[in-house]
Amino acid sequence: MRQPFVAGNWKMNGSRETATELLEDVVQGLVSSHCEAAVCPPYVYLADGLRIAKGSELVLGAQNVSEEESGAFTGEVSASMLQDFDCRYVIVGHSERRGLFGESDETVARKFMAAARQGLRPILCVGETLEEREQDVTEQVIRRQLDAVLNAAGVHAFVEAVVAYEPVWAIGTGQTASPEQAQAVHAMIRARVAEADDTIADRLRIIYGGSVKAGNAAELFARPDIDGGLIGGASLDADSFLSICESA
Ligand code: G3P
Repeated sequence: MRQPFVAGNWKMNGSRETATELLEDVVQGLVSSHCEAAVCPPYVYLADGLRIAKGSELVLGAQNVSEEESGAFTGEVSASMLQDFDCRYVIVGHSERRGLFGESDETVARKFMAAARQGLRPILCVGETLEEREQDVTEQVIRRQLDAVLNAAGVHAFVEAVVAYEPVWAIGTGQTASPEQAQAVHAMIRARVAEADDTIADRLRIIYGGSVKAGNAAELFARPDIDGGLIGGASLDADSFLSICESA
């Protein structure tokens, strides 16, 4: 009952030439599968994405968004600006935003709400560091990150949202969480949302990110609470990304 969802997070990679080629290859290869597929290019390539994806199965997303709607916020991009480029999704709270750019749980919650107010679907990233997993506090970390948004936005804000579990220790490392590890955290996320509203929890798509590859996607996606993936490195190769979409 939950449509699988796979999103490619291109991060700060590529050029206008390679982005255009990758967009064209993904659009061309994306058969009308049961999986919803999105790519999140750097902001500066969204215009090309709009042009190339128009009328195709591919939807667009962004990698970040301002918590502000407009004004003197140099360098920021608002949710309404992303809508100008037909973005349907926006990643909020990616561990690189949290770790490298100091985004707090409260900032992430404000970004989540700014996106939702404009009709964008937030992809809320949560995940523990290796140290936190080794200290056996993964559940506390995930609940803290999730509750910051649930408490600020309310559970009904999750009707159109997606949650992405991305263990920080699996991002870009080639060390993927095992299907058992990922399923356990996904089930915990769903159970936490169900405490507020079990219908919303049941319909919520929870996707996994962290070294997902064509070779391991199917095993991960076969788990009952893993509804797809948030793909980094592998999304920069059209064949790999399309193969992962087919696995969902
Ligand atoms: O947002 C997805 C990203 O963090 C995962 O990166 O390269 O491990 O697939 P990667």
